[in-house]
Amino acid sequence: MRLRNLPYADELVRNHRNFIHEPEKYKGKWSEYFQNTNPLHIEIGSGKGKFITTLAEMNKNINYIALERQISVLAKLIKKVPENGFNNFAVINADAELLPQFFSPGEISHIYLNFSDPWPKKRHAKRRLTSSSFLEIYKVLLKDDGIISFKTDNRGFFDYSIEQFELSGYLLTNATYDLYKSHLINNNVATEYEQRFIRQGLPIYALTACKDVNMPKDQV
Ligand SMILES: C[S@@+](CC[C@H](N)C(=O)[O-])C[C@H]1O[C@@H](n2cnc3c(N)ncnc32)[C@H](O)[C@@H]1O
Repeated sequence: MRLRNLPYADELVRNHRNFIHEPEKYKGKWSEYFQNTNPLHIEIGSGKGKFITTLAEMNKNINYIALERQISVLAKLIKKVPENGFNNFAVINADAELLPQFFSPGEISHIYLNFSDPWPKKRHAKRRLTSSSFLEIYKVLLKDDGIISFKTDNRGFFDYSIEQFELSGYLLTNATYDLYKSHLINNNVATEYEQRFIRQGLPIYALTACKDVNMPKDQV
């Protein structure tokens, strides 16, 4: 997704109360930033933000962070947040590669990867957010009982990701080739991309990956 670099976007995002100017300052200290020890959930590649802003509004006892590398896209996300912000929400404008600079090992409870770019060409495989190098980073940053939720419209990317999660030693649960025809739809919050694919009648592939392979499936 590429939006024109809107001249006001930068200012709009940077002046918002929920925007984090120096995220590295909070590494290992997000509980100080939020002033509580609630679990930390992160969406990587939040896009226009419908998913994470809906969750932040619904679940006040969870702290949410949106990570997105395009500031023009973040301008759309920020418009979904009240002017005085949410107390349980923060926005970071950065590439996922920098995650270890912003979070300490074991600091994150849940990572969401929603409709991440599939990068179909083999030579771009390292850019995929479910490539083994990213999965290893997530494993370090997740708590022992931490989980990753992944949704995509792309079957090839889904199959590739299943393979990568398994090779990296995650336990896969709740995998479905058609989210909207499965019971998992009950707790689903749709993203902007997801709404578009659903309108086109396309299936949505989804799974949950647990860091701890011994975790009982009914706890996920
Ligand atoms: C296809 S869009 C999906 C947006 C949103 N999750 C949705 O489902 O509507 C992917 C988003 O991820 C962002 N993105 C891709 N790679 C990223 C990375 N390495 N770090 C941070 N953001 C990334 C892109 O800028 C884009 O906004």
